[in-house]
Amino acid sequence: MKKIVILISGRGSNMQALLEADLPCTIAAVISNRADAAGLDVAKARGIATAVVAHKDYPDRASFDAALQREIDTFTPDFVVLAGFMRILTDAFVIHYLGRLVNIHPSLLPAYTGTHTHERALADGVKIHGCSVHFVTPELDGGPIIIQAAVPVMRNDTAATLSARVLHEEHRIYPQALRWLCRKQVWLDEHGKVASDRLEQPGAALVSPGLS
Ligand code: GRF
Repeated sequence: MKKIVILISGRGSNMQALLEADLPCTIAAVISNRADAAGLDVAKARGIATAVVAHKDYPDRASFDAALQREIDTFTPDFVVLAGFMRILTDAFVIHYLGRLVNIHPSLLPAYTGTHTHERALADGVKIHGCSVHFVTPELDGGPIIIQAAVPVMRNDTAATLSARVLHEEHRIYPQALRWLCRKQVWLDEHGKVASDRLEQPGAALVSPGLS
C-alpha cells in the first residue's frame, strides 16, 4: 500500500476530506509549519501521527525546508500532499520530491497563481472559476495539472461565497487525484507531462451564465 504525508498550515479542510475519503493508501502523518493549525487536532482525533516543523525556528527557507524534508522522510512516503501549506518551497525541496509532490490551488490554473485568487477572479469578471490539483515543480503554481473542477461565478458572489463553492469542489477532486496516483492511474512521465488512463469527457461543457 502506498504511503502519503500531508502538509498543512491551518484549517485543514482538504486534509480532512482526504482523511475521510477512504483512500487506497496509508496516511502516515500530517505535518504543519504552525503549531496552532486547527487541522492537527482533526488528524490527532483520527489517530494519525502529527508533527510540527515551525518555520519560525529556522533562519532561512533552505534550513527550514531541509528540516521539513528530514521529518517527512522519516515516514518514507510515496507522495507528499500539500493541503493549504502556506510556505513557498525551495527548488531543492521540490526537486527531491519531483513526481511525488502535489498541491491543490484555488483557481483554474494557469490563471490566478499565487494568493487572493477569488478576489482577483471577481475583479476580472470571469464567469467560470475553479480549482486545480497539480504536480509541484519549481515554478510557483506552474506544475503539470492532474485534475480541475470548474464552477460558475454568480452575479452576487463575494469572495466568501465563491471560495465556498470552489472549496466544495476541492474536497472532491483532491481525493480523486490521490486515488489515481496511489493506484498508478496517473503519473508524471519522463517528459514532465501528466500521463493517465483516466476517462475524458468529450462534449462536456459548463456554460455560465446558462444558455436559455
Ligand atoms: C484551499 O483553498 C487550498 O486550495 C489552498 O489553501 C486553502 C486551504 O484550505 N491551497 P484548507 O486548509 O484545506 O481548509
